[in-house]
Amino acid sequence: MRELSVNHLLGIKYLNQGDIDLIFETADHFKEVINRPIKKVPSLRDITIANLFFENSTRTRLSFELAEKRLSADVINFSAASSSVKKGETLIDTVNNILSMKVDMVVMRHPNPGAGIFLSNHVKASIVNAGDGAHEHPTQALLDTYSIRERLGEVAGKNVVIVGDILHSRVALSNIFALKLQGANVKVCGPKTLLPKYIERLGVSVETDLRKALQWCDVANMLRVQNERMEISYFPSTREYTQQYGLNKEILDSLDKEIVVMHPGPINRGVEITSDIADSDQAIILDQVQNGVAVRMAVIYLLASKIKQ
Ligand code: NCD
Repeated sequence: MRELSVNHLLGIKYLNQGDIDLIFETADHFKEVINRPIKKVPSLRDITIANLFFENSTRTRLSFELAEKRLSADVINFSAASSSVKKGETLIDTVNNILSMKVDMVVMRHPNPGAGIFLSNHVKASIVNAGDGAHEHPTQALLDTYSIRERLGEVAGKNVVIVGDILHSRVALSNIFALKLQGANVKVCGPKTLLPKYIERLGVSVETDLRKALQWCDVANMLRVQNERMEISYFPSTREYTQQYGLNKEILDSLDKEIVVMHPGPINRGVEITSDIADSDQAIILDQVQNGVAVRMAVIYLLASKIKQ
């Protein structure tokens, strides 16, 4: 039987192409399941999953919970929205709680980069990283590239630009790894202050002119400006950011082709993307959300089948 090369999903960095193929094929199957009148399968009746959210989240938390329930797993939820969580302390507490509750899998969002890796070294449970600070957000990148594959047939050879706050975005980093692994050409676009200095070392190109980047791409993934991760100002004003890096009808109409528009949510309507574009057929934003459940079912199912062995 084919299986994942990893026991945890800590980042796209740790996956290989075969893992992604397997996750996508499994997600195709679950996508069919969740469109049936009876949307549940009994696969994980004997598995208990803890969702630990130390940082705010709406769609990711709901999407994981739904995915777990559609697989018939037992689910417990813990959310502690707090920015002052100190590494070590809280995580060790969490570890002890998890051990005593006999949990098989932990889905964790945490403000500290590497929090999932730390936990995976201290508990026997399988860990799924649901976002660790500005580091990785692997299931988001899986559902994003799955959605590109669904809309355009394949990811390999496609030109994808990621626009906005690359510096603070775990979605950007995970997407870069996932897109490169699947053979896409990747460009990042944004104000120089929001582009990490050595980003080209990841095999991506850099463009500061949005119009040029859009003219080049098949897909534009528009990121939210992560104001909550900024201690200083990285650009003069939101208005100026929108003027230079906001996606609107005028700029899309000026291209000589129709591109696919993506956004991981939550959207700041009128800042990085106008409402008419976010709600248009060109945007696959709600497909991304729908695919998120199937992709997370696939990840959880495949990791759980390794626990069961
Ligand atoms: C992203 C996140 O939390 O990293 N949202 C999400 O998971 N859908 C992106 C963001 O907050 O802008």
